[in-house]
Amino acid sequence: MKIIGTGSAHPKCAVSNEMLEKFLDTSDEWITERTGIKERCVISSEKLEDMAVLAANHALENAGLTAADIDFIICSNVVNEYVTPALSCIIQGMIGATCPTVDINAACAGFIYAMDIAEDKLKCNKAKNILIVCAEEPSRMVGWENRSTCVLFGDGAGAAVVTQGDDLKAIRLTTSSLTDVLYYQRRLEPTPYIDKPEEFEPLVMKGREVFKHAVTNSCRDIRKLLNETGLEANDIKYYVLHQANRRIIDSIRNFLGVDEERVPHNVERYGNISSAALPALLDELNRDGKLQKGDKLVFSAFGAGFTTGACVIEWGI
Ligand code: UT7
Repeated sequence: MKIIGTGSAHPKCAVSNEMLEKFLDTSDEWITERTGIKERCVISSEKLEDMAVLAANHALENAGLTAADIDFIICSNVVNEYVTPALSCIIQGMIGATCPTVDINAACAGFIYAMDIAEDKLKCNKAKNILIVCAEEPSRMVGWENRSTCVLFGDGAGAAVVTQGDDLKAIRLTTSSLTDVLYYQRRLEPTPYIDKPEEFEPLVMKGREVFKHAVTNSCRDIRKLLNETGLEANDIKYYVLHQANRRIIDSIRNFLGVDEERVPHNVERYGNISSAALPALLDELNRDGKLQKGDKLVFSAFGAGFTTGACVIEWGI
């Protein structure tokens, strides 16, 4: 696998911490100190598929390809307006592609899971060019009266076009069924036969537990990948980490013992945009001209499940 194009898109409505202070018992000081987040972009008049299509088209343009060149689309998504059809089917039609598509849900680790699936398809020649689109609207999962969760998230999309190549040096996925630390239940239609109690509530998160799992697992994944590839921590140009919380990012950086400039972040501007965080940050680095051919990159993400994914990439464009 080789990444040949990146793209991203964020909703136009930027919500600052000060705007949240107006209807929540919170403060810019608390949010900044505990999370590093200053603002987040949330869906207002846009639809999530509009964000996804913008990101996808940017990635195609960056790769120098058109939708007709794409053999498979993988969309990573936790929620959107449709249960069916899959968001990837909607994206396919809107960008004018004709290939098969699939949606996956590995929560915030979705981009790495999508890359793993793409790698397998490319390796066995089932596809030549694959479009990965991560499109997320967690702002529609949280209760906006709950200061513990709603301040943390934003919406957005990130995309990458991948093709056959040898740039994925190592990849590691893990899932451990810890379903009570972070979950959101879908409201289903009642039927004349349902006689079990069903309660639906906004996203539930045990923040401290998630924090602990995130740091421990991300550090473990990165250590294992560095061992496997024979690389030292400072051989890595950038650690592209899940943008959930600045304190989590800093804890991982301290564990690795690397300088701040190797661990880029944009969580202060976008909050946690779930699986879109990694490709969106990668797109920023790419468009800012910060990536050189041959640079080694580590990606690492964690999410509800509990899922983790990490990989080592050599930048090839
Ligand atoms: O993709 C995975 C997504 N999730 C995460 O990455 C979350 C990981 N966890 C975290 O980032 C942190 O646990 C949080 C930022 C969510 C919370 O930080 P914390 O230092 O673990 O705080 P806490 O939950 O222990 O809460 C401390 C206090 C509580 O008040 P009391 O009970 O001590 O009086 C909370 O009610 O802070 C209060 N609090 C707030 N205060 C002002 C919680 N949220 C807020 C808020 N503004 N927004």
